[in-house]
Amino acid sequence: MGSGAQALHSSAMDARQAADSRRWYHALELAPGVVTDGWFDLRGDVHHYGLPDDMSGMRALDVGTWDGFWAFEMERRGADVVALDLDDERELDWPPRRRPPEHLMSDEPRGAGFAIAHELRGSKVERVVRSIYHATPDELGTFDLVFCGSVLIHLRDQLLALERIRDLVKPGGLFVSAEEYDRRGALLPWASSRYLADRDSAVVFWMPTLRTWRAMHWTAGFDTTTVRSRFMMAAGKGDERFTVRHAVLHSRRDG
Ligand SMILES: C[S@@+](CC[C@H](N)C(=O)[O-])C[C@H]1O[C@@H](n2cnc3c(N)ncnc32)[C@H](O)[C@@H]1O
Repeated sequence: MGSGAQALHSSAMDARQAADSRRWYHALELAPGVVTDGWFDLRGDVHHYGLPDDMSGMRALDVGTWDGFWAFEMERRGADVVALDLDDERELDWPPRRRPPEHLMSDEPRGAGFAIAHELRGSKVERVVRSIYHATPDELGTFDLVFCGSVLIHLRDQLLALERIRDLVKPGGLFVSAEEYDRRGALLPWASSRYLADRDSAVVFWMPTLRTWRAMHWTAGFDTTTVRSRFMMAAGKGDERFTVRHAVLHSRRDG
């Protein structure tokens, strides 16, 4: 084996070791042909989101990046990407009765997988540890495209987060939002949101209908919103497979 081929071989080995070393949220390609065994394999769903094929020259923000699948996807398309997340699970929105005891909280920072993928992919994505509640243009600047997938559904204050996002989108820019929505409430002739924080399941506070998500984008200051797609996101592994109903909204701010 020549030295170039050897280097490639050993970097693929490093990537394989890294992929097997921990649990991953996202199925992520760490090196050509080396994919993490993530809980969410979104690779087959990317077409539902309507991201521009060519994002070169664009500045993009990924809100709630976790292992970084969407940040890396936008970087792959040529964008200059900033990725936002919290590191400490204790800082996530938890209703007091559903807050896991301290000893069950993960001590591994949320960004650990991102850091490994970042290095192995030779990525230039800048990861910023900041809650979307405190993310402002003063600190981060503004973006041609802000992406936020499956984050708002876990927030206590979805509208505040949407307002922050609206301020981070450049005039003329695009907000791509993908969230779960309530179908049953859609039978009501008004905007509604199901209250779910009293259930013993994953942390979801409010489950808006699609009409409600649209209304909330408008309330937050976006000028136009279109439904780009609806699809069932497949998740889990082995016996624990499930699907999550998702809608992708594209919102624009004019001025
Ligand atoms: C369900 S995951 C979604 C991951 C990814 N966006 C996707 O579409 O696959 C939710 C992510 O949002 C992050 N998150 C939760 N609350 C947040 C907040 N207030 N500000 C920023 N990120 C937050 C979590 O740490 C986690 O990475």
